[in-house]
Amino acid sequence: MSRQGSLVFIMAAGLGTRMKSDTSKVLHRIAGRPMLHWVVTAARAAGAERVVAILGHQHEAVKASLDAAFGPGSVDIAIQAEQRGTGHAVQCALPAVAKEADDRIVVILTGDAPLLASERISELVAAAEASPAGMALLSTVPDRPMPYGRLVRDARNVLEKIVEHPDATPEQRLIRDTNAGFYAIRLGHLRRDLATLRADNAKGELYLTDLVARAHARGGATAIDAPFVECTGINDRVDLAQVDAAARRRINEGWMRAGVTMVDPASTYIDVDVGPIGKDVWLGPGVVLRGATAIADHARIDAGCVLIDVQVAEHVHVKAYSVLSESTFGARAAIGPFTHCRPGSRIDEDAHLGNFVETKKTHMMAGAKANHLAYLGDASVGTKCNIGAGVITCNYDGVGKYQTTIEAGAFVGSDSQLVAPVTIGRDAYVGSGTTVTKDVPRGSLALSRVKQVNVEGWADRFREAQAKRKKDGF
Ligand code: UD1
Ligand code: CA
Repeated sequence: MSRQGSLVFIMAAGLGTRMKSDTSKVLHRIAGRPMLHWVVTAARAAGAERVVAILGHQHEAVKASLDAAFGPGSVDIAIQAEQRGTGHAVQCALPAVAKEADDRIVVILTGDAPLLASERISELVAAAEASPAGMALLSTVPDRPMPYGRLVRDARNVLEKIVEHPDATPEQRLIRDTNAGFYAIRLGHLRRDLATLRADNAKGELYLTDLVARAHARGGATAIDAPFVECTGINDRVDLAQVDAAARRRINEGWMRAGVTMVDPASTYIDVDVGPIGKDVWLGPGVVLRGATAIADHARIDAGCVLIDVQVAEHVHVKAYSVLSESTFGARAAIGPFTHCRPGSRIDEDAHLGNFVETKKTHMMAGAKANHLAYLGDASVGTKCNIGAGVITCNYDGVGKYQTTIEAGAFVGSDSQLVAPVTIGRDAYVGSGTTVTKDVPRGSLALSRVKQVNVEGWADRFREAQAKRKKDGF
C-alpha cells in the first residue's frame, strides 16, 4: 500500500434485477451486515484514503445506510443516474477525484462481492504500482460455472483483453481464468482510457473490462490470482445464501481458533459484528448470535438460543431455546430453558430466570429468582427476592406503563398479580394468589384472597345425587 493511501471506487449502481427484491441488492445482508458495508470495511482496512460509492438504484436508501454505519458523509457518493455499464459507472465517479494527480492509484471494487479480503486490495495496489501498464486486476477460477468475463492472453502469454461471457466464443468460454471484477489503475490511464470506451458489444454497455485491452498496448495489465470464495459476486438469492454460508464459516472458524467451542459450527449463526466471545465459551447447536452481542469467558449457551444485542458475563448459563434481546446478564446468572428477555432487561450476577419467564425493562438484582411462568415488566426486583410461579406485573392499563418495585429479600407467592405502580417493601411476603393494589410495607404480609370455607361432606352428597339422577334416567 502506498504511503498516501489509495482512492477507492465501489460500483453499486446496478439494479440487481435478479434478486427480485424491493430492497437494493447491495443492502441485502451477509452475516448481518449489508454487502456494500463489507466492501467499504475491507477498503478501509486496506488503508483507503477516500472511498467513493457509485450509486444509482435506490441511492437515497443506500447513502442513508452508509451514513448510519460509517458516519455522515464519510463515504463519498457519486450518482450514476442511468446504468449504462461498469465503464460508465466509473466515468460518473471521475468528477469526485478531479483534483487528484494522474499518478495516483484508483482501486475499483464491486459492491456485490462482499468477501474480498483487505490483503487482496493491498496486493492489487502494489501490483498496479509495479506494473509498466499501470494496471492490475484479480483473476479467479470459479468452482462452478459462472458467466464471468474470460481472461484472453496473447501468444507471449501477456493479458490481451477480457471477453465478457455474452460476447465470448465457445472456445473462449473454455478459458478457466475469469475476471473477478476488482481492479487497480493509475488515474491518468483511467481518465484517458475511459474516454475511449464504446458500447459495441452484446449488452450495448460501456464495459470497464475493455480497459484491459488498452493496457495491452502498454505492456499488459497484471492479473493476480484470488480464491473464488473471496470473489463470488452476488446476482441472485442463491448466490446470497452461498456467500452467506461462506461468510459464516469464516466467522465461526475465527472464533473456534480463539477458544470458542461449537458443537455444530454448520448450525451456529454468528453475525460479523458480534464479539468479543471469550475463551471456553460453549455454544450448542442452533445458536444464533446477532448484532452487538458479546459473551465473556466460560459462558454456556445451549441449543436453539437466539441472542440479539446482549452482553453476557462470565459463567452465565443460558439454557435451551431462550430468546434474549438488548439486555445484560451478570456473572453466573442462570437463564432458561424457554426464557424470553426483551429489551432493557438487566439481570445481575447469580440471578435465575426459569422456563416461561418473560422480562421487559426489568432489573433483577443479584441472586433474585423467578424460576417459572412469570411476566416481569417495568420492574425492579431486589437482591435475593423470590418470585413464585405465575406472578405477573400488571404494568399497562391500556394507556400508560407503570413501575413495580420489589425490595430486597421480598417473597412474592405464586399466582399473584402486582398492579403497578406499586412497591413491595423489603423482606415482605405476598401470599399466593394475592392481587396487590397497594404498597406493602417492609416486613409485612399482603393477602387479598377470599377466606376459604370447607363444606363438610358436600362432595360425597353431590356424587350420590348425581348417581341417583343417572339411574332414574334424569
Ligand atoms: C462484471 C464484469 C465481468 C466479471 C464480473 C465478476 C464488466 C463489463 N464485467 O460482470 O467481467 O467477470 O463482473 O463479478 O464489468 N454496475 C454499476 N453501474 C452499471 C452497471 C453495473 O454500478 O451501469 C455495478 C453493479 O451494481 C455491480 C457491478 O457494477 O455491483 C458489476 O456489474 P454487473 O452488471 O453485476 O456485472 P457482471 O455482469 O457481473
Ligand atoms: Ca455481478
